[in-house]
Amino acid sequence: MSDIVNNTFITFTEGPLIGKSLHSLWLRERLSDKKHLDQINLQRLYEPSLLDENIYIEKFLHKGNNLMIIFSDGETGNFSIKDILDEVYQHDIFPKKKQWKENILKKSYHNYKSLKTSLELTIDMLRNFHLFGFVILTHMSKKKGAVIKFAETLGPVRSTNFGKYFDVISKPNPNDLAYTALGLSPHTDNPYRKPVPGIQLLHCIVNDAEGGNSTLVDGLKITNYLKKNEKHYFDILTSVEILFHFADKDVVLQNWGRLIELDSKNNFKQIRFSGRLDYVPALNPEQLTLFYQARKRLYELCTSKDFMINFRLESGMLVMFDNHRLLHGRTKYDPSSGNRHLQGCYIEHDVVEGKLRRLLIK
Ligand SMILES: [Fe+2]
Repeated sequence: MSDIVNNTFITFTEGPLIGKSLHSLWLRERLSDKKHLDQINLQRLYEPSLLDENIYIEKFLHKGNNLMIIFSDGETGNFSIKDILDEVYQHDIFPKKKQWKENILKKSYHNYKSLKTSLELTIDMLRNFHLFGFVILTHMSKKKGAVIKFAETLGPVRSTNFGKYFDVISKPNPNDLAYTALGLSPHTDNPYRKPVPGIQLLHCIVNDAEGGNSTLVDGLKITNYLKKNEKHYFDILTSVEILFHFADKDVVLQNWGRLIELDSKNNFKQIRFSGRLDYVPALNPEQLTLFYQARKRLYELCTSKDFMINFRLESGMLVMFDNHRLLHGRTKYDPSSGNRHLQGCYIEHDVVEGKLRRLLIK
């Protein structure tokens, strides 16, 4: 036994936690017996902020994967070194997201009928969604309402002022260009909302018209490309905040955000792109010149074959995509050549993440 104990922390001198010091209170508030933790919902049965801050480690025994500690307040803790390791080094059961390669479409199709009978295939589908930001389901019902039925197998749907779901079909006097037969260049949906909807689902009821293919673009891949090859554009796109604005007769919605947003570790977090809805602030002319060049370059990349995939949603198919990572669009169609009717809805990231975690953690 060679771990070092001071009054307030333990330092590991062997094993997988070698060199790591753990505070006595950090350990004390992780007691998992039924006196301290509800055994069903795993929530604490006491307020940890009220623990005596002078609690220290009186005795300990570290053997293999087990760590037993007696604290100065008389409580005893039995810990798994593996659990501590996972928490200390923030191991996640989710793999790192991957940017697309040329063959991305091949691995994106999932047969919904098979999913319904196989937990493994459902996990595979949700994992692919996590990795690549979208999946395409085939062999679904062709009926109206199928999108909500499917979304609710994952969790609650996010309603908006468009309703619980929306019909993507050309109609007179639309409050959004989505409800026309025009082609839609790659964009993210609803950047003016707080928060921006996380995930969009689009189910195809009928698509007999000429044209009207679906397009998707990987914002993660574009961000990596700009960071590596066109850093001056990357820098301004990740720093200037844009106002996004939507208005109709009932509501005016506004939110600010960067076209490319990074997280606290400077990794890709979110892309926003909707040239129909953005209001660039009145920066000084030099900054604005660079910003407009960068936005134009971003548009060129988004519409380039190197970054965009094009596929056809047929009746009974559904695409689910990450609205914070991917841009989506469609080619124009001729409404006199046939019908095109999609239904869509939004769900949030924690719905899909939470479902996948539940299926992965036994
Ligand atoms: Fe859209």
